[in-house]
Amino acid sequence: MIADARAASFQELVHQRRSIRNFRAESVPRSLIEEILRTAMWAPSPHNVQPWRFTVLVRDADKSRLAEAMAARLYDDLRADDSAQDVIDQQIERSRWRLTTAPVLLVCSLVRDGLVDYEDERRSRFEWEMAVQSVGAVLQTVFLAAAAHDLGTCWMAAPMYCPAEVRSAVALPDEYAPQALILMGYPASPGKIRERRPVHEVVEFR
Ligand SMILES: Cc1cc2nc3c(=O)[nH]c(=O)nc-3n(C[C@H](O)[C@H](O)[C@H](O)COP(=O)(O)O)c2cc1C
Repeated sequence: MIADARAASFQELVHQRRSIRNFRAESVPRSLIEEILRTAMWAPSPHNVQPWRFTVLVRDADKSRLAEAMAARLYDDLRADDSAQDVIDQQIERSRWRLTTAPVLLVCSLVRDGLVDYEDERRSRFEWEMAVQSVGAVLQTVFLAAAAHDLGTCWMAAPMYCPAEVRSAVALPDEYAPQALILMGYPASPGKIRERRPVHEVVEFR
């Protein structure tokens, strides 16, 4: 019976979580951010090395510096795509707005520290890929732990496109490889429910 209740509340939490990009101005207590990250450390990782590193930004100046650095790179990329100027302006503004209005930004980076250093390039690459896979595990745990406290989150992939700019704007150590930027805060609105594929479309029992 207890197990049923636990499964039901877990399912509810999973369904309740959704990507939130629009936040109330209310700040998130540092102790709560720490608790969420402490919970997330229990995510699985290769050899349990926990190759992720989190940099937490809450100050306006820090968020703006990162937003500007990323906007500059986005501008160059969109120009190279030959995008129309109004599309470029819109996307830049949206990116800036998201980063500067989220009460908390989490920069999630990876380090090689602890991963096996194989002689051959092939297995070294797999080690790194395993570390990258573990980013999904730790971030989903962050998202669920945050949702349990009514906090909204959203995964922003942009740091993958401009790791050097992110490293410089956030003053990250050279060995940090930025993977994702997470917006976090109390939702201004519930967020859109995005439908899921039926299980039979993606699962095959043999
Ligand atoms: C690896 C990854 C990258 C994502 N990148 C972005 C992004 O750059 N911008 C964004 O607005 N949402 C991003 N998302 C969020 C997805 O759009 C979102 O999870 C998906 O549409 C399902 O919606 P839900 O999270 O509300 O259930 C990303 C999600 C993942 C897992």
